[in-house]
Amino acid sequence: MTATLTTALGQPLLHGTALGDIRLPNRVVMAPLTRARADNPGLVPTELHAAYYGQRASAGLIVTEGTWVSERAVGFVNVPGVHSEEQVAGWRRVTDVVHALGGRIVQQLWHTGAASHPDHLGGALPAGPSAVDPRARTFTPDGFKETLTPRAMTVDDIGATVAEFRAAAANARRAGFDGVEIGALGAFLFAQFLNPRLNHRDDAYGGDRARRRRLLLDVVDAVTAEWDGRRVGVRLAPYMTATERFVVDEEVLADFDELVTVLNDRPLAYLHLRGPDLAGPGETPGFAAFARYRRRFEGPLIANNGFARDSANALVGAGFADAVSFGTHFVANPDLVGRFALERELAAGDPATYYQGGAKGYADYPAAG
Ligand SMILES: Cc1cc2nc3c(=O)[nH]c(=O)nc-3n(C[C@H](O)[C@H](O)[C@H](O)COP(=O)(O)O)c2cc1C
Repeated sequence: MTATLTTALGQPLLHGTALGDIRLPNRVVMAPLTRARADNPGLVPTELHAAYYGQRASAGLIVTEGTWVSERAVGFVNVPGVHSEEQVAGWRRVTDVVHALGGRIVQQLWHTGAASHPDHLGGALPAGPSAVDPRARTFTPDGFKETLTPRAMTVDDIGATVAEFRAAAANARRAGFDGVEIGALGAFLFAQFLNPRLNHRDDAYGGDRARRRRLLLDVVDAVTAEWDGRRVGVRLAPYMTATERFVVDEEVLADFDELVTVLNDRPLAYLHLRGPDLAGPGETPGFAAFARYRRRFEGPLIANNGFARDSANALVGAGFADAVSFGTHFVANPDLVGRFALERELAAGDPATYYQGGAKGYADYPAAG
Protein backbone atom coordinates (compact mmCIF):
# COMPACT_ATOMS: atom_id res chain seq x y z
CA MET A 1 0.00 0.00 0.00
CA THR A 2 1.36 3.41 -0.89
CA ALA A 3 2.00 6.06 1.74
CA THR A 4 -0.74 8.22 0.20
CA LEU A 5 -3.36 5.51 0.51
CA THR A 6 -2.32 4.81 4.08
CA THR A 7 -2.85 8.50 4.84
CA ALA A 8 -6.24 8.46 3.12
CA LEU A 9 -7.42 5.44 5.08
CA GLY A 10 -6.30 7.21 8.23
CA GLN A 11 -8.78 10.02 7.53
CA PRO A 12 -12.06 9.42 9.38
CA LEU A 13 -13.77 11.62 6.75
CA LEU A 14 -13.11 9.00 4.11
CA HIS A 15 -14.86 6.16 5.93
CA GLY A 16 -18.46 5.33 5.05
CA THR A 17 -21.45 5.95 7.29
CA ALA A 18 -25.24 6.05 7.19
CA LEU A 19 -27.55 9.02 7.70
CA GLY A 20 -30.85 7.27 8.37
CA ASP A 21 -31.54 5.19 5.26
CA ILE A 22 -28.99 7.07 3.16
CA ARG A 23 -25.67 5.20 3.00
CA LEU A 24 -22.59 7.34 2.31
CA PRO A 25 -19.23 6.02 1.04
CA ASN A 26 -17.47 8.95 2.76
CA ARG A 27 -18.37 11.70 5.23
CA VAL A 28 -17.61 14.69 3.00
CA VAL A 29 -20.98 16.36 2.41
CA MET A 30 -21.57 19.14 -0.10
CA ALA A 31 -23.35 21.93 1.83
CA PRO A 32 -26.34 23.67 0.23
CA LEU A 33 -25.17 26.50 -2.03
CA THR A 34 -27.53 28.96 -3.69
CA ARG A 35 -25.96 29.69 -7.07
CA ALA A 36 -28.83 31.49 -8.84
CA ARG A 37 -28.38 29.82 -12.24
CA ALA A 38 -32.08 29.14 -12.99
CA ASP A 39 -32.41 32.28 -15.11
CA ASN A 40 -35.58 31.20 -16.89
CA PRO A 41 -39.20 32.29 -16.23
CA GLY A 42 -40.25 28.94 -14.72
CA LEU A 43 -37.24 28.83 -12.34
CA VAL A 44 -36.46 25.37 -13.74
CA PRO A 45 -33.11 23.62 -13.17
CA THR A 46 -31.33 23.14 -16.51
CA GLU A 47 -28.64 21.00 -18.13
CA LEU A 48 -26.14 23.32 -16.49
CA HIS A 49 -27.40 22.30 -13.05
CA ALA A 50 -27.10 18.64 -14.05
CA ALA A 51 -23.49 19.21 -15.16
CA TYR A 52 -22.59 21.13 -11.97
CA TYR A 53 -24.07 18.58 -9.57
CA GLY A 54 -22.75 15.66 -11.65
CA GLN A 55 -19.22 17.05 -11.34
CA ARG A 56 -19.65 16.88 -7.54
CA ALA A 57 -21.09 13.32 -7.41
CA SER A 58 -18.11 11.92 -5.48
CA ALA A 59 -19.33 13.79 -2.37
CA GLY A 60 -20.59 11.41 0.30
CA LEU A 61 -23.86 13.33 -0.03
CA ILE A 62 -24.90 16.42 -2.00
CA VAL A 63 -27.41 18.78 -0.41
CA THR A 64 -28.86 20.93 -3.19
CA GLU A 65 -29.14 24.67 -3.05
CA GLY A 66 -32.25 25.85 -1.24
CA THR A 67 -35.26 25.36 -3.57
CA TRP A 68 -38.70 26.99 -3.42
CA VAL A 69 -41.59 24.97 -2.05
CA SER A 70 -44.06 27.33 -3.74
CA GLU A 71 -44.29 30.63 -5.60
CA ARG A 72 -44.94 32.33 -2.26
CA ALA A 73 -41.65 31.04 -0.86
CA VAL A 74 -39.51 32.93 -3.39
CA GLY A 75 -37.09 35.54 -2.04
CA PHE A 76 -33.96 35.49 -4.20
CA VAL A 77 -33.43 35.83 -7.92
CA ASN A 78 -32.95 32.84 -10.29
CA VAL A 79 -33.24 30.15 -7.63
CA PRO A 80 -34.98 26.98 -8.86
CA GLY A 81 -38.17 25.65 -7.29
CA VAL A 82 -39.64 22.19 -6.78
CA HIS A 83 -43.35 22.98 -7.01
CA SER A 84 -44.10 22.76 -10.77
CA GLU A 85 -44.05 19.74 -13.09
CA GLU A 86 -41.43 21.44 -15.24
CA GLN A 87 -39.20 21.87 -12.21
CA VAL A 88 -39.67 18.23 -11.18
CA ALA A 89 -38.65 17.14 -14.70
CA GLY A 90 -35.58 19.41 -14.51
CA TRP A 91 -34.56 17.95 -11.15
CA ARG A 92 -35.07 14.43 -12.51
CA ARG A 93 -32.30 15.15 -15.02
CA VAL A 94 -30.07 16.29 -12.15
CA THR A 95 -30.70 13.25 -9.94
CA ASP A 96 -30.30 10.88 -12.92
CA VAL A 97 -26.86 12.32 -13.68
CA VAL A 98 -25.74 12.26 -10.03
CA HIS A 99 -26.94 8.66 -9.59
CA ALA A 100 -25.39 7.52 -12.87
CA LEU A 101 -22.10 8.85 -11.55
CA GLY A 102 -22.51 6.95 -8.27
CA GLY A 103 -23.64 9.85 -6.07
CA ARG A 104 -26.42 10.62 -3.59
CA ILE A 105 -28.38 13.86 -3.48
CA VAL A 106 -31.02 15.36 -1.17
CA GLN A 107 -33.07 18.45 -1.89
CA GLN A 108 -33.04 21.43 0.45
CA LEU A 109 -36.53 22.96 0.85
CA TRP A 110 -36.60 26.75 1.30
CA HIS A 111 -39.17 29.41 2.18
CA THR A 112 -38.04 32.99 2.79
CA GLY A 113 -41.24 34.17 4.54
CA ALA A 114 -40.90 37.82 5.56
CA ALA A 115 -37.39 38.02 4.09
CA SER A 116 -38.79 38.32 0.56
CA HIS A 117 -39.84 41.41 -1.37
CA PRO A 118 -42.89 42.39 -3.50
CA ASP A 119 -40.54 42.27 -6.53
CA HIS A 120 -40.40 38.47 -6.08
CA LEU A 121 -44.12 38.07 -5.39
CA GLY A 122 -45.85 39.83 -8.27
CA GLY A 123 -46.21 42.97 -6.13
CA ALA A 124 -47.73 41.21 -3.09
CA LEU A 125 -46.41 41.91 0.39
CA PRO A 126 -44.35 39.06 1.89
CA ALA A 127 -45.88 37.27 4.88
CA GLY A 128 -44.18 36.22 8.11
CA PRO A 129 -45.07 35.42 11.71
CA SER A 130 -45.95 39.06 12.57
CA ALA A 131 -45.89 42.49 10.93
CA VAL A 132 -42.25 43.07 11.87
CA ASP A 133 -39.55 43.86 9.31
CA PRO A 134 -36.74 41.27 9.58
CA ARG A 135 -34.40 44.01 8.33
CA ALA A 136 -32.75 41.61 5.90
CA ARG A 137 -31.65 42.20 2.33
CA THR A 138 -32.97 40.26 -0.62
CA PHE A 139 -31.40 39.81 -4.05
CA THR A 140 -34.02 40.96 -6.60
CA PRO A 141 -33.78 41.29 -10.40
CA ASP A 142 -32.76 44.93 -9.73
CA GLY A 143 -30.04 44.06 -7.23
CA PHE A 144 -30.12 43.88 -3.43
CA LYS A 145 -33.14 45.53 -1.75
CA GLU A 146 -34.11 46.03 1.89
CA THR A 147 -37.02 43.99 3.24
CA LEU A 148 -40.29 45.71 4.26
CA THR A 149 -42.79 45.27 7.05
CA PRO A 150 -44.55 42.03 6.08
CA ARG A 151 -48.12 40.90 6.53
CA ALA A 152 -48.74 38.57 9.50
CA MET A 153 -49.63 35.07 8.31
CA THR A 154 -53.11 33.85 9.17
CA VAL A 155 -53.62 30.35 10.54
CA ASP A 156 -54.90 29.43 7.06
CA ASP A 157 -51.67 30.76 5.53
CA ILE A 158 -49.73 28.56 7.95
CA GLY A 159 -51.77 25.49 7.08
CA ALA A 160 -51.22 26.16 3.37
CA THR A 161 -47.47 26.55 3.94
CA VAL A 162 -47.24 23.23 5.79
CA ALA A 163 -49.11 21.60 2.89
CA GLU A 164 -46.68 23.20 0.41
CA PHE A 165 -43.71 21.65 2.20
CA ARG A 166 -45.40 18.27 2.12
CA ALA A 167 -46.16 18.60 -1.59
CA ALA A 168 -42.59 19.73 -2.30
CA ALA A 169 -41.26 16.64 -0.48
CA ALA A 170 -43.53 14.46 -2.63
CA ASN A 171 -42.20 16.25 -5.71
CA ALA A 172 -38.59 15.70 -4.59
CA ARG A 173 -39.28 11.99 -4.27
CA ARG A 174 -40.81 11.89 -7.76
CA ALA A 175 -37.76 13.77 -9.05
CA GLY A 176 -35.56 10.91 -7.83
CA PHE A 177 -33.92 12.50 -4.80
CA ASP A 178 -32.54 10.36 -1.97
CA GLY A 179 -34.22 12.58 0.59
CA VAL A 180 -35.02 16.15 1.57
CA GLU A 181 -33.53 18.64 3.99
CA ILE A 182 -35.76 21.21 5.70
CA GLY A 183 -33.75 24.44 5.68
CA ALA A 184 -34.55 26.15 9.00
CA LEU A 185 -31.88 28.82 9.21
CA GLY A 186 -30.78 32.28 8.11
CA ALA A 187 -33.31 35.09 8.25
CA PHE A 188 -35.98 32.86 6.69
CA LEU A 189 -39.41 31.50 7.54
CA PHE A 190 -38.69 28.99 10.33
CA ALA A 191 -36.01 31.20 11.91
CA GLN A 192 -38.56 34.06 11.88
CA PHE A 193 -41.10 31.96 13.77
CA LEU A 194 -38.50 30.69 16.26
CA ASN A 195 -37.33 34.27 16.94
CA PRO A 196 -39.26 36.18 19.66
CA ARG A 197 -38.07 39.49 18.16
CA LEU A 198 -40.01 38.71 14.97
CA ASN A 199 -42.73 36.42 16.25
CA HIS A 200 -45.23 38.43 18.33
CA ARG A 201 -48.14 36.03 17.81
CA ASP A 202 -50.39 35.03 20.65
CA ASP A 203 -51.94 31.99 18.99
CA ALA A 204 -50.72 28.38 18.68
CA TYR A 205 -47.68 29.54 16.64
CA GLY A 206 -46.21 32.21 18.93
CA GLY A 207 -45.64 33.10 22.54
CA ASP A 208 -43.58 30.58 24.45
CA ARG A 209 -40.81 28.41 23.04
CA ALA A 210 -43.05 25.45 22.32
CA ARG A 211 -45.43 27.58 20.26
CA ARG A 212 -42.65 29.38 18.37
CA ARG A 213 -41.21 26.06 17.20
CA ARG A 214 -44.59 24.62 16.29
CA LEU A 215 -44.47 25.64 12.61
CA LEU A 216 -41.17 23.83 12.13
CA LEU A 217 -42.44 20.74 13.93
CA ASP A 218 -45.69 20.78 11.92
CA VAL A 219 -43.60 20.83 8.75
CA VAL A 220 -41.31 18.05 10.01
CA ASP A 221 -44.39 15.98 10.80
CA ALA A 222 -45.99 16.71 7.41
CA VAL A 223 -42.81 15.91 5.47
CA THR A 224 -42.14 12.72 7.45
CA ALA A 225 -45.75 11.66 6.86
CA GLU A 226 -45.07 12.04 3.13
CA TRP A 227 -41.65 10.36 3.11
CA ASP A 228 -39.97 8.06 5.64
CA GLY A 229 -38.27 10.29 8.23
CA ARG A 230 -35.07 8.30 7.71
CA ARG A 231 -34.78 10.27 4.46
CA VAL A 232 -35.55 13.67 5.98
CA GLY A 233 -32.92 15.97 7.48
CA VAL A 234 -33.25 19.31 9.29
CA ARG A 235 -30.74 22.15 9.01
CA LEU A 236 -30.34 24.58 11.92
CA ALA A 237 -27.95 27.45 12.62
CA PRO A 238 -28.33 28.44 16.30
CA TYR A 239 -25.34 30.79 16.14
CA MET A 240 -26.30 32.63 12.97
CA THR A 241 -26.82 36.38 13.33
CA ALA A 242 -28.45 36.89 9.94
CA THR A 243 -29.52 40.51 10.64
CA GLU A 244 -29.73 42.81 13.67
CA ARG A 245 -33.04 41.13 14.48
CA PHE A 246 -31.30 37.78 15.00
CA VAL A 247 -29.07 37.70 18.06
CA VAL A 248 -27.36 34.82 19.81
CA ASP A 249 -27.75 34.82 23.56
CA GLU A 250 -28.43 32.27 26.28
CA GLU A 251 -32.19 32.49 25.65
CA VAL A 252 -31.77 31.69 21.97
CA LEU A 253 -29.37 28.84 22.68
CA ALA A 254 -31.84 27.47 25.24
CA ASP A 255 -34.55 27.58 22.51
CA PHE A 256 -32.35 25.51 20.23
CA ASP A 257 -31.33 23.10 23.01
CA GLU A 258 -34.97 22.31 23.59
CA LEU A 259 -35.81 22.17 19.89
CA VAL A 260 -33.06 19.65 19.23
CA THR A 261 -34.24 17.50 22.14
CA VAL A 262 -37.81 17.58 20.82
CA LEU A 263 -36.56 16.54 17.36
CA ASN A 264 -35.38 13.29 18.98
CA ASP A 265 -39.03 12.23 19.11
CA ARG A 266 -39.19 12.36 15.31
CA PRO A 267 -37.60 9.79 13.00
CA LEU A 268 -34.97 11.85 11.12
CA ALA A 269 -32.05 10.99 8.84
CA TYR A 270 -29.84 13.69 10.35
CA LEU A 271 -29.43 17.10 11.91
CA HIS A 272 -27.29 19.45 9.81
CA LEU A 273 -25.79 22.00 12.14
CA ARG A 274 -24.11 25.19 11.02
CA GLY A 275 -21.77 26.13 13.87
CA PRO A 276 -20.49 29.56 14.94
CA ASP A 277 -18.73 31.78 12.41
CA LEU A 278 -14.96 31.82 12.70
CA ALA A 279 -13.29 34.83 14.27
CA GLY A 280 -10.98 35.40 11.32
CA PRO A 281 -8.86 33.88 8.56
CA GLY A 282 -6.80 30.91 9.69
CA GLU A 283 -9.18 30.29 12.61
CA THR A 284 -10.20 26.65 13.20
CA PRO A 285 -13.76 25.74 14.23
CA GLY A 286 -14.04 24.82 17.90
CA PHE A 287 -15.67 21.58 19.00
CA ALA A 288 -17.77 23.02 21.83
CA ALA A 289 -20.81 23.94 19.73
CA PHE A 290 -20.93 20.53 18.09
CA ALA A 291 -20.37 18.76 21.43
CA ARG A 292 -23.38 20.70 22.81
CA TYR A 293 -25.73 19.31 20.15
CA ARG A 294 -24.05 15.90 20.02
CA ARG A 295 -25.04 15.49 23.67
CA ARG A 296 -28.65 16.41 22.94
CA PHE A 297 -29.41 14.97 19.50
CA GLU A 298 -29.50 11.19 19.33
CA GLY A 299 -29.36 10.80 15.53
CA PRO A 300 -26.58 11.47 13.02
CA LEU A 301 -25.06 14.95 13.00
CA ILE A 302 -23.53 16.80 10.04
CA ALA A 303 -21.26 19.68 11.16
CA ASN A 304 -20.59 22.78 9.07
CA ASN A 305 -18.93 26.15 8.89
CA GLY A 306 -15.32 26.91 8.21
CA PHE A 307 -13.97 23.37 8.16
CA ALA A 308 -10.84 22.28 6.31
CA ARG A 309 -9.63 18.71 5.81
CA ASP A 310 -7.66 18.47 9.07
CA SER A 311 -10.23 20.15 11.33
CA ALA A 312 -13.02 18.03 9.84
CA ASN A 313 -11.04 14.81 10.32
CA ALA A 314 -10.30 15.82 13.91
CA LEU A 315 -13.99 16.55 14.62
CA VAL A 316 -15.22 13.28 13.13
CA GLY A 317 -12.31 11.35 14.65
CA ALA A 318 -13.22 12.70 18.08
CA GLY A 319 -16.82 11.57 17.58
CA PHE A 320 -18.44 15.03 17.65
CA ALA A 321 -20.06 14.59 14.23
CA ASP A 322 -20.82 11.79 11.78
CA ALA A 323 -20.01 13.91 8.73
CA VAL A 324 -18.86 17.43 7.84
CA SER A 325 -20.30 19.59 5.09
CA PHE A 326 -18.26 21.98 2.99
CA GLY A 327 -19.74 24.94 1.15
CA THR A 328 -17.14 27.25 -0.35
CA HIS A 329 -14.62 24.42 -0.90
CA PHE A 330 -17.13 22.66 -3.14
CA VAL A 331 -17.53 25.76 -5.31
CA ALA A 332 -14.06 25.46 -6.84
CA ASN A 333 -13.18 21.82 -6.03
CA PRO A 334 -15.74 19.52 -7.64
CA ASP A 335 -13.50 16.56 -6.70
CA LEU A 336 -13.07 17.67 -3.09
CA VAL A 337 -13.14 14.07 -1.79
CA GLY A 338 -10.32 13.05 -4.16
CA ARG A 339 -8.29 16.11 -3.22
CA PHE A 340 -8.69 15.27 0.48
CA ALA A 341 -7.68 11.65 -0.14
CA LEU A 342 -4.59 12.65 -2.09
CA GLU A 343 -3.85 15.66 0.13
CA ARG A 344 -3.93 17.97 -2.87
CA GLU A 345 -4.04 21.76 -2.71
CA LEU A 346 -7.52 23.26 -2.87
CA ALA A 347 -8.55 25.84 -5.47
CA ALA A 348 -10.27 29.07 -4.39
CA GLY A 349 -13.65 30.07 -5.85
CA ASP A 350 -14.48 33.54 -7.13
CA PRO A 351 -17.17 35.20 -4.95
CA ALA A 352 -18.10 37.47 -7.90
CA THR A 353 -19.58 34.38 -9.60
CA TYR A 354 -21.34 32.89 -6.54
CA TYR A 355 -24.73 34.20 -7.62
CA GLN A 356 -24.28 35.02 -11.32
CA GLY A 357 -22.22 34.23 -14.39
CA GLY A 358 -23.83 31.22 -16.09
CA ALA A 359 -21.31 28.38 -16.48
CA LYS A 360 -18.46 30.69 -15.52
CA GLY A 361 -17.42 30.12 -11.91
CA TYR A 362 -20.07 27.38 -11.71
CA ALA A 363 -19.56 24.36 -13.93
CA ASP A 364 -16.09 25.23 -15.27
CA TYR A 365 -13.85 24.38 -12.29
CA PRO A 366 -11.68 21.41 -13.30
CA ALA A 367 -10.92 18.37 -11.22
CA ALA A 368 -7.27 18.17 -10.12
CA GLY A 369 -5.18 16.37 -12.74
C1 LIG B 1 -22.71 31.13 -2.24
C2 LIG B 1 -23.34 30.53 -1.02
C3 LIG B 1 -24.65 30.10 -1.07
C4 LIG B 1 -25.26 29.49 0.04
N1 LIG B 1 -26.53 29.01 -0.06
C5 LIG B 1 -27.10 28.32 0.97
C6 LIG B 1 -28.39 27.72 0.84
O1 LIG B 1 -29.04 27.77 -0.21
N2 LIG B 1 -28.89 27.07 1.93
C7 LIG B 1 -28.21 26.98 3.11
O2 LIG B 1 -28.70 26.36 4.06
N3 LIG B 1 -26.96 27.51 3.24
C8 LIG B 1 -26.40 28.17 2.20
N4 LIG B 1 -25.12 28.68 2.32
C9 LIG B 1 -24.34 28.40 3.53
C10 LIG B 1 -23.42 27.19 3.29
O3 LIG B 1 -24.19 26.02 3.15
C11 LIG B 1 -22.42 27.00 4.44
O4 LIG B 1 -23.13 26.99 5.66
C12 LIG B 1 -21.37 28.09 4.48
O5 LIG B 1 -20.77 28.27 3.22
C13 LIG B 1 -20.29 27.76 5.52
O6 LIG B 1 -19.62 26.55 5.17
P1 LIG B 1 -18.14 26.58 4.54
O7 LIG B 1 -17.27 27.29 5.55
O8 LIG B 1 -17.74 25.16 4.32
O9 LIG B 1 -18.23 27.37 3.27
C14 LIG B 1 -24.53 29.33 1.24
C15 LIG B 1 -23.20 29.79 1.29
C16 LIG B 1 -22.60 30.37 0.19
C17 LIG B 1 -21.17 30.81 0.26
